[in-house]
Amino acid sequence: MITNIKISNCFLRPFEKGDQNIVLEMRNQDHVRENMINQDFITKKTHVKWFEIVLNSKDKAYYIFEYKNKTAGVVGFFNIHPGELADWSFYLTEGDWPKGLGTQMCYMGLSIFFEKLNTFGIETNILPNNKKSISLHEKLGFIYQNKNENLVCMKIEYSKWQNKFSQ
Ligand SMILES: CC(C)(COP(=O)(O)OP(=O)(O)OC[C@H]1O[C@@H](n2cnc3c(N)ncnc32)[C@H](O)[C@@H]1OP(=O)(O)O)[C@@H](O)C(=O)NCCC(=O)NCCS
Repeated sequence: MITNIKISNCFLRPFEKGDQNIVLEMRNQDHVRENMINQDFITKKTHVKWFEIVLNSKDKAYYIFEYKNKTAGVVGFFNIHPGELADWSFYLTEGDWPKGLGTQMCYMGLSIFFEKLNTFGIETNILPNNKKSISLHEKLGFIYQNKNENLVCMKIEYSKWQNKFSQ
């Protein structure tokens, strides 16, 4: 068990057409935007195009995370190609969420990623001042690849995930 959060209160489901507006709303919240590599405010036009691509792409898999039947966040994978390292993105919407909810969402996302999407691993870049995210990646078994003043690069492979979390 990675957190004390009750699993029965948590649900991860693939994006649906009707999620378009809420995803844009979440992605443009200041605390999300400021922690993303692309910090631009996303326009409706750009988002609609991107959302359509996500719904129809095999190399992307995005999920809505629900906590106690409320939309709480997004976890998504992209650049998914057999035998290669993919990348991911995640965020919680503003709210009075219990401590550990982000970790729980990401753990559930990675479980699907490794068990259903049949992929090799993830390599991702994090902004160095995003200490919460770095700590979350460490907890999930990611290891440091590179670190400079602009980016922290971390990676996890299936074998590492299996060793750490498979019963
Ligand atoms: C990243 C995010 C999902 C984390 O969600 P969360 O529910 O707040 O995170 P958790 O409660 O699971 O905590 C993650 C870890 O960060 C630690 N943490 C919290 N605040 C911290 C701080 N200021 N400095 C260092 N670590 C901190 C927590 O203690 C926890 O580690 P621990 O369990 O070892 O104590 C959420 O903050 C978010 O949506 N951020 C904006 C988007 C974002 O940054 N996405 C990731 C881009 S790489």
